[in-house]
Amino acid sequence: RIEPNLRPKYLEEYIGQEKIRTNLKVYIDAAKARGESLDHVLFYGPPGLGKTTLSAIIANEMGVNMKVTSGPAIEKPGEMAAILNNLQEGDVLFVDEIHRLNRQVEEVLYPAMEDFAIDIMLGKDSSARSIRLDLPKFTLVGATTRAGLLTAPLRDRFGVVQKLEFYTPQELKIIVCRSARVLQVEIEEEGAAEIAKRSRGTPRLANRLLKRVRDFAQIKYNGTITKEVADFALDILDVDKLGLDCNDRAILTTMIEKFAGGPVGLDTLAASLGEDAGTLEDVYEPYLLMNGFINRTSRGRVATERAYEHLGIPMGS
Ligand code: ADE
Repeated sequence: RIEPNLRPKYLEEYIGQEKIRTNLKVYIDAAKARGESLDHVLFYGPPGLGKTTLSAIIANEMGVNMKVTSGPAIEKPGEMAAILNNLQEGDVLFVDEIHRLNRQVEEVLYPAMEDFAIDIMLGKDSSARSIRLDLPKFTLVGATTRAGLLTAPLRDRFGVVQKLEFYTPQELKIIVCRSARVLQVEIEEEGAAEIAKRSRGTPRLANRLLKRVRDFAQIKYNGTITKEVADFALDILDVDKLGLDCNDRAILTTMIEKFAGGPVGLDTLAASLGEDAGTLEDVYEPYLLMNGFINRTSRGRVATERAYEHLGIPMGS
């Protein structure tokens, strides 16, 4: 038995990201009615919120195929040209981590996105000339953790730019229940609510935790995911009551214990944690910021009263 896919395939089944869903439906319906490919789309936001899933949904809704690649995977302009040239009319090309494309590769995308063509250089020096090769119409779907990481010329070539937000515990609970149904595992409301509450607003994490909780339910309990099983398993998995994992807690603890709660600069904090500054900023910070565990000030990051409280450290100690 192969593991079932938890990703929704159509907009109808997609939960959360209300604004994106409403907008995409309009753009997709309009493009389909005109018999055109969808304009290029850029999704940005923290990892695990559905950028790849939405890209696959766009392809399904448009009735085309999706080709997948990523910024760091394409090293040479010729590789990008080959990928573009192999697309079928209307296809979706999903480029994950699109901010990591190198400059020469990115420049292949400009005429491709704008005119559905690539310019190929022939010869060198005085005999050099370029020929234009027409491409099939396609939709580029780019994904990045921060729109600000893209160069302006690339960003400007996307007709649709959408930011993905963290999911509410209510939305995550619905996603967990849907996934449990797909996985054919019994789940009680309170069990789903507990997993949802501890998933950092992130469906990818909710689905991962659901699978692990299911294992405990199966081996240590009677197979049904109750609140008791969820609590038991999530404590073992080191996800705390507010959904913070050991990385989140290490960030807060370091800020408080090594930097007296801040302000501390991003680079200093990252170095102290042995973490990449970009990862810290794009992957860990957004959830801590949104939930009021840290603040950003002009002089650096500060841990809030809530962070001290949550970690059980008295302020000013
Ligand atoms: N699985 C992962 N993300 C989902 C979403 N947004 N809606 C439904 N199921 C999902």
